[in-house]
Amino acid sequence: MSDPAVVDLIGRSNRLGSDTKNTNYAGGNTSVKGIGTDPVTGEPIELLWVKGSGGDLRTLTESGLAVLRLDRLQRLVDVYSGIEREDEMVAAFDFCLHGKGGAAPSIDTAMHGLVDAAHVDHLHPDSGIAIATAADGEQLTSKIFGARVVWVPWRRPGFQLGLDIAKIKNQHPQALGCILGGHGITAWGATSAESEANSLWIIDAAAAYIAGNSKPDPFGPAQDGYTALPEAERHAKAAALAPTLRSLASYDKPMVGHFTDAEVVLDFLGSTEHPRLAELGTSCPDHFLRTKVKPLVLDLPASAPLEESIVRLGELHAAYRADYQAYYHRHATDGSPAMRGADPLIILVPGVGMFSYGANKQTARVAGEFYVNAINVMRGAEGLSAYAPIKESEKFKIEYWSLEEAKLARMPKPNPLAARIALVTGAASGIGKAIATRLAAEGACVVIADLDLEKAQSVAREIARENGASEANGADVAIGLAADVSDEAAVRAAINTAVLAFGGLDLIVNNAGLSLSKALLDTTVADWDLQHDVMAKGSFLVSKAAAKVLIEQKLGGDIVYIASKNSIVAGPNNIAYSAAKADQAHQVRLLAAELGGHGVKVNGINPDGVVRGSGIFSGGWGAQRAAVYGVDEEDLGAYYAQRTLLKREVLPENVANAVFAICSADLSHTTGTHIPVDAGVAAAFLR
Ligand SMILES: NC(=O)c1ccc[n+]([C@@H]2O[C@H](COP(=O)([O-])OP(=O)(O)OC[C@H]3O[C@@H](n4cnc5c(N)ncnc54)[C@H](O)[C@@H]3O)[C@@H](O)[C@H]2O)c1
Ligand SMILES: [Zn+2]
Repeated sequence: MSDPAVVDLIGRSNRLGSDTKNTNYAGGNTSVKGIGTDPVTGEPIELLWVKGSGGDLRTLTESGLAVLRLDRLQRLVDVYSGIEREDEMVAAFDFCLHGKGGAAPSIDTAMHGLVDAAHVDHLHPDSGIAIATAADGEQLTSKIFGARVVWVPWRRPGFQLGLDIAKIKNQHPQALGCILGGHGITAWGATSAESEANSLWIIDAAAAYIAGNSKPDPFGPAQDGYTALPEAERHAKAAALAPTLRSLASYDKPMVGHFTDAEVVLDFLGSTEHPRLAELGTSCPDHFLRTKVKPLVLDLPASAPLEESIVRLGELHAAYRADYQAYYHRHATDGSPAMRGADPLIILVPGVGMFSYGANKQTARVAGEFYVNAINVMRGAEGLSAYAPIKESEKFKIEYWSLEEAKLARMPKPNPLAARIALVTGAASGIGKAIATRLAAEGACVVIADLDLEKAQSVAREIARENGASEANGADVAIGLAADVSDEAAVRAAINTAVLAFGGLDLIVNNAGLSLSKALLDTTVADWDLQHDVMAKGSFLVSKAAAKVLIEQKLGGDIVYIASKNSIVAGPNNIAYSAAKADQAHQVRLLAAELGGHGVKVNGINPDGVVRGSGIFSGGWGAQRAAVYGVDEEDLGAYYAQRTLLKREVLPENVANAVFAICSADLSHTTGTHIPVDAGVAAAFLR
């Protein structure tokens, strides 16, 4: 049975975390102090339950709490020798754990343990940070909250900040919380309900004061030519720029992207003051690793021609990198971690929107959410006074904090296809579904493209669930879209949607297909056209639209054709299907030759006899083939197996394995070839 105090803490944390006005994703932490039993002595002991490192308040559960012995934690004050050595106190937390201690204690543990209140909330609300980053934040704090909220000057989170807050609370017995300069808020209470009410009171009072006292245009008047383009134009320009932007963001390391054209972003970018404010950078400590100290801002009007925008972005990117390197070298000391890469994580395009980047989709999306928080903070601070984030040297001390570096070093090794974006056509069924499932399991973001939207989306949801994504965040893993690959406009729209969903494209699998089994004299022109439209022309159209993205991204990539044994073997009664497959097979060689110079590999897979799970087989082809071979339809899998060299049935997963292998780093030097996945069919040997 959980301690009732812990149950209350989890409830309060989840409520506070589920409203974005209260804190940013994974920002802030909460705690309760209570009495437990020492299992060794049976005696009562004072414990601190506090949200551990990582995780999010909205979804916090008991396993996300660190549990510490309060008496030992508080005695650290006696051995603390000053700010120079405060980082060592984090290691000392391990010696204060109760039993195994649950989750790893975070850097904010000292604040919770040292403040003399049973319940403590530390949060990053936009309204509170607006006051915390206003040039006259201290005066505003007393004006808005009177004696009930105290100003604490900026200090990097840690043991000393905990001591500062504890001292201020003792000196101001009437205070219910404080504004942490440049950072956020902390509130406390004698009961869980009181702490929650105090937190919300600070957040709401700050928001109400901003609403009632802000100047009308905190970002200045609208700037001619920089306001939002009409939606269709905006999306078209975003999709056209996305591959170039991803190449800039991925100069040091491949990144996945997130795009938003939320009104709050477009409004900021359409204002006269946005260049000055963007240059000032973000302030809350949570931001620097996620958004870098500042974004890259395109300084051209929304109507600027694409080519001109691309040239200018290249110049701005070079300048951004030089500026970032200079920032690193201005502040790095002998003990600083190595520079982590100089590319921007946030790119702002006036009239179009914001692109944010990360090593995976969730990180990219959250970086964008953080910059929206930063815009809200800047609007509040500028509305009341002037936005004044913490000093650059302090930002550096957080971005390159040895404790942050240690956290990064503890992160699990990325999956083989992390930061890669796959599009699989015909992936709502059979082999394509197995391929999409495998690529997602290896860490790729996947786009399921098929004729039927509902089926495509349902497979995407299934794959997202299998990979542990919540219902709300399934699109971080997989999305489904409708596209007839034989329709050029539909293919282009699908590629654009994919590019806007994940920032770009890396792995394209031409799998969509269907199959008619007819003798020459029975094959109609319509049969011929259908087979060739979907498979020969369809894969040509998909490869063409995707190759443009791959070339602009400059990150290489893979195009994989699911051809067939029938592209080589002259099977019975198969003219339209097999001729179309032979066409696809030769596209592999032609495109491997043409795209090799861009680092793009093009290969094919030749499956045979994949009966189970295949819509082609269950939709009539199976019955026809069974009739041709003179066996019962349900025995067709076994029939195909016995005529193979390995006597094995081929499953969709076997084809998916080959697709993963060809896209993996191990086959980085292989292009223009076909891998048979047919359990061994001598007639289909390649030579
Ligand atoms: N099953 C086999 O034995 C076998 C053998 C060799 C090659 N192949 C090839 O593997 C691929 C997948 O076949 P499967 O067996 O999984 O079949 P399947 O019918 O289960 O899946 C094919 C998918 O392609 C989609 N599709 C059809 N026309 C489309 C279009 N115009 N645009 C977009 N999507 C379209 C279908 O809706 C379906 O979801 C096909 O190219 C097929 O020729 C299959
Ligand atoms: Zn904080």
